[in-house]
Amino acid sequence: MCFMAIPAARLAAYLALAADLLCINSTLACADVNATLSVDLGKPTTNIPMNFFGLMTEEINHAYDGGLYAELIQNRSFQDPSRNTSGMPVHWSTIGSGTVTIDRSNPVNSALPVSLRLDLSGDKLGVANDGYWGIPVHPDTTYTATFFAKADGGFAGPVTASLQSEDGATSFASAGTPQIANGWHKYALNLKTDHSAPATASAKFVLSASGSGRIWFSLVSLFPPTYQQAPNGLRPDLMQLMSELKPKFIRLPGGNYAEGSRFADRFNWKQMIGPSDTRPGHMGCWGYRSSDGFGLPEYLLWCKQLGAEPVLAVFAGYVLNGDHFKAGSQEMALYTQEALEEIEYISGPATSKWGKRRAEDGFSEPFPLHYVEIGNEDWFDRSGSYDGRFTQMARAIRERYPRLKIIATAPVSSFKPDMYDDHFYRGARQLVQMATMYDKPSGPAAALTFNGGGWNGRQPDGIKTFVGEWAAQEGRPTPNLNSALGDAAFVMGLERNSDAVLMECYAPLLVNVSPAIPDKGYPKAMQWNTNLIGYDALHSFGSASYYAQVMLAQNKGDAVLQAHLDGMAATSAGADARTLFATATLSKSDKAVLVKIVNFGDSAADIEIRLNGPAHIEPNGTAIVLTGEPDWVNTVDEPLKVAPRQEPIANAAASFHRTFSPHSFTILRLTAR
Ligand code: AHR
Repeated sequence: MCFMAIPAARLAAYLALAADLLCINSTLACADVNATLSVDLGKPTTNIPMNFFGLMTEEINHAYDGGLYAELIQNRSFQDPSRNTSGMPVHWSTIGSGTVTIDRSNPVNSALPVSLRLDLSGDKLGVANDGYWGIPVHPDTTYTATFFAKADGGFAGPVTASLQSEDGATSFASAGTPQIANGWHKYALNLKTDHSAPATASAKFVLSASGSGRIWFSLVSLFPPTYQQAPNGLRPDLMQLMSELKPKFIRLPGGNYAEGSRFADRFNWKQMIGPSDTRPGHMGCWGYRSSDGFGLPEYLLWCKQLGAEPVLAVFAGYVLNGDHFKAGSQEMALYTQEALEEIEYISGPATSKWGKRRAEDGFSEPFPLHYVEIGNEDWFDRSGSYDGRFTQMARAIRERYPRLKIIATAPVSSFKPDMYDDHFYRGARQLVQMATMYDKPSGPAAALTFNGGGWNGRQPDGIKTFVGEWAAQEGRPTPNLNSALGDAAFVMGLERNSDAVLMECYAPLLVNVSPAIPDKGYPKAMQWNTNLIGYDALHSFGSASYYAQVMLAQNKGDAVLQAHLDGMAATSAGADARTLFATATLSKSDKAVLVKIVNFGDSAADIEIRLNGPAHIEPNGTAIVLTGEPDWVNTVDEPLKVAPRQEPIANAAASFHRTFSPHSFTILRLTAR
């Protein structure tokens, strides 16, 4: 199930990465380590870009439907068919007496071709939805139910909407409609739970009626309160977790999801704008259908609410099953035109054709857009067509939008990209080792090569790097502490090379951790093994790696300080010189010196920290420390098992000692006046 939509070549690459993970951890040092870290306060070097930290996103692991998109009804337009003998669309069941059938002869519109027809037989009849691994109910909460309905055969209403316990014995909230008309009409009801309602996901949503006659339903929707109360909006707890990461961009809409498994299922953005009842939905590439209630306007809402700007990946004529169109084809002309229009939808004035459509979707102001990525991981296209496809699209974008920076996803030679998007999924130790990969070579540069996802170092000729997907992949469904340490070292390495690496984002971002429940037709919610933020219907948590990245994002600074670590292997034979990794940055506004140290090994490290320069170092500072056992993971039940703690520092000076626990990531926040 989990890789069913992934082509063989990409699957082979994923399996190779998994094999890599099995052979790590063989050489960890078991020794006390003494070292000196010298930081040069006098010479800040690289200015760290404002937009360095971002988020990578796509519909995977029920990231949107059953995740960030706050909609609670699964299969709300009944387009996923029955998976059992009931004949009911999956996630729907019948309550009471009478018959319920799937009706394709009374569509609401072309985007909503299916309705449920209820033939009442004098008694109560209803349909129930079991949500995304349950419907979450909270006390003192108002839910908004909407649905299309029409009546016939003497039935005129009312229809009752209710939130009920799974066994139907308890109603947590209910409300009724007025009369139901003969033609399709959209009804809206508020359902308010009271103070005594439990916090539970063992609940269902029911639409029911009594009497005789016929009633049809379509696009049945239920929203809890959303982040900042936006209509068709986002799940507040996940937005809160993401806001702590201080993302300055969102790479959207993928990932594989931007490409799709087949042409019919590509990310066709024009079908994902406008009111959600005009969006037909489509088959996503990770084995389940997307309602597309979370479409392009909702990506923009997400950007706006987090203060991030979109980094737009445009569809580039290649799909995951390997099909593609060559440069110069009619289809490539169409996709190029669609990309130009998509750019206009996002960033054009409200007076432009597509900017006007954006304004109609609720965003009168254009969004800042600086980067457009052409395709995704086009190195999987073994036909060699990417150079031509990229060049055709890049030329058109450059001509219409000369200021936009253009990102390539695989080696190209016919048009110079502004940036390459490098992807790295590795073991934790490998990522620690890769922390230096973008360093300026001290001698002659090694030959630049592209290996399965990324280049092996910084680019020549002013081309920049975007590390648009990366992760240490130990810990499931979210990374363990060991991964978090590898991730921290890797990002520190990117940050100190942010003259060459302008942006980075971890992937995948979101995972619904709910298990398979075969009786209810639920498969496992996740497709990818190691992901940053986990949740189920009721809970959410940041992973160990999430906290490492929160620490880095909240202590970024504006400039890199030269930092040099000496004597790591001084005290004991066999100590691994790579178990420690350290960098430093400066935050000019508050004169904070931010010293960042990963101790990846299983021995404590005693480090003398020398802060060289004329500034006076205040004795008081703060240490932010993430540590524990390397295999610890956060879960729904233990969401903060691996989380940073703050410790006061009282002995900071131009030279001072500190002991760094085994398996730790520490940021020292000091003041230099
Ligand atoms: O992040 C998961 C997948 O990994 C992305 O969809 C794809 O770009 C990469 O192969």
